[in-house]
Amino acid sequence: MRQTVPLLFLCVLISLTRVGAIHHMKRHIEERQSSGGSIPLMVTNMCNDTIYPGINTQAGQGPQSQGFELQSGANNTQYVSENWQGRVWGRTNCSFNSQGTGPSGNGYQACNTGDCNGVVNCSVTGNTPVTLAEFTLNGGDGQTYYDISLVDGYNLPMAIVLLPLSNAFFQAIPPNLTNPSCIGTVGDFNPSQSYSPYSDGQQATFLGTNSSSPLPFANNISYSDVANWCPWDLQVSPPKGPGDGVYPYPDSTIQRPIFNPCLSACAKYNSDSDCCNGKYNSPNSCSPNYYSTAAKSVCPDAYSFAYDDQTSTFIIPAGAGFAVVFCPGERSTDILATSKQQLSRLAGTGSGAASSSSSGGMIRSLASSTLAERDGRTWCWAVFTALAVVAWSFVAGC
Ligand SMILES: *[C@@H]1O[C@H](CO)[C@@H](O)[C@H](O)[C@H]1NC(C)=O
Ligand SMILES: *[C@@H]1O[C@H](CO)[C@@H](O)[C@H](O)[C@H]1NC(C)=O
Ligand SMILES: *[C@@H]1O[C@H](CO)[C@@H](O)[C@H](O)[C@H]1NC(C)=O
Ligand SMILES: *[C@@H]1O[C@H](CO)[C@@H](O)[C@H](O)[C@H]1NC(C)=O
Ligand SMILES: *[C@@H]1O[C@H](CO)[C@@H](O)[C@H](O)[C@H]1NC(C)=O
Ligand SMILES: *[C@@H]1O[C@H](CO)[C@@H](O)[C@H](O)[C@H]1NC(C)=O
Ligand SMILES: *[C@@H]1O[C@H](CO)[C@@H](O)[C@H](O)[C@H]1NC(C)=O
Repeated sequence: MRQTVPLLFLCVLISLTRVGAIHHMKRHIEERQSSGGSIPLMVTNMCNDTIYPGINTQAGQGPQSQGFELQSGANNTQYVSENWQGRVWGRTNCSFNSQGTGPSGNGYQACNTGDCNGVVNCSVTGNTPVTLAEFTLNGGDGQTYYDISLVDGYNLPMAIVLLPLSNAFFQAIPPNLTNPSCIGTVGDFNPSQSYSPYSDGQQATFLGTNSSSPLPFANNISYSDVANWCPWDLQVSPPKGPGDGVYPYPDSTIQRPIFNPCLSACAKYNSDSDCCNGKYNSPNSCSPNYYSTAAKSVCPDAYSFAYDDQTSTFIIPAGAGFAVVFCPGERSTDILATSKQQLSRLAGTGSGAASSSSSGGMIRSLASSTLAERDGRTWCWAVFTALAVVAWSFVAGC
């Protein structure tokens, strides 16, 4: 194992370079068209309120609509290309006028969280804090990478459900390996530690799973864990009360609101150590901070900082569709910790696509999700990508 480390390093470097180059070039070669593609991306709103999902395209062909109104209980299916890379998030507390802009016009904020320049149909990514569903439908190696990310903060509970379509290969994958859920809001949380969604008779299904393939839930999380996980200083609207803003705080006796969006430490303070920038720009030098530790404690299957444990990304052979479910309810899943071996075997299988070893898959996962997380965030990154293109041209040329 030890002697393979330098080789792994090289692979990481090459993967980073390659993925960076692919994405960089795509953005320039293909003008982004919004005519959709063949892979369904369903968005379902199980929240009590109307939300406005937003979709941002980083590579490939994006959907027809990059943002729309979605009433409670409704769903909306968009189509993207097989090589699509992008993210989906939810906007809350929006008020749009009949022109589809904020009350004060284009460019003014229309939503409390997740706003994209105050327009319904987003062309930029959402304001922090947002819970993100991130997808790289084809990392160039025949694998799909996806995750629930809390790197840009948290606003709404979210689950991702694989849609096997009519493909027997995807139908055969146990759905309890592919459908993570993150509940960081008490109103959507089921406090019963013996909770099972499958007890309503044999037919009961939850997030695409049933009692034959039950989801592993994180049963160690309590009501007060979910109510209080957001570090006091990172709450978007900390409750008013004695001790508010005055030492000593946080005041744990103050009831927090049910809807309690949480900024990540990186989004709030933008320091190199919190954002894994500058000298912290590597998995070895960037450690989890108080925000990512807290986020991970209520959502063990979510990605919590730029160099989170590489297994926070789900990897499956490319070709499946996905549903993003807002406010799925009940409990967070704990798939990554309980089904590690099955997951890495899955990452190693190929459905006619180029197969790769499971460790190769994991390493590319790290490379691609790191890129996805940080994409478009800093001009430094653009410079890095440009350098990567040069480096890759050099490698490809020799
Ligand atoms: C959304 O905006 C894109 C351009 O960013 C445009 O191509 C597309 O037609 C718009 N969709 C709708 C439904 O307005
Ligand atoms: C999506 O909505 C349609 C009708 O609007 C319904 O037939 C379908 O069952 C819904 N699907 C899900 C997964 O909720
Ligand atoms: C804002 O949206 C959240 C989530 O949908 C909801 O819980 C909350 O009640 C809303 N607040 C207001 C003032 O509408
Ligand atoms: C949604 O409504 C149900 C029923 O009224 C309530 O129990 C739940 O707490 C609400 N969820 C949120 C997030 O407010
Ligand atoms: C669970 O779902 C699978 C796939 O749809 C099905 O084959 C199986 O019979 C279901 N099990 C139960 C107990 O309903
Ligand atoms: C997931 O479902 C499979 C059956 O498809 C089952 O064997 C396995 O134990 C389940 N995993 C967990 C963690 O419950
Ligand atoms: C629950 O257990 C997971 C490990 O499976 C751990 O990461 C997480 O921090 C725990 N959460 C709480 C609130 O204890």
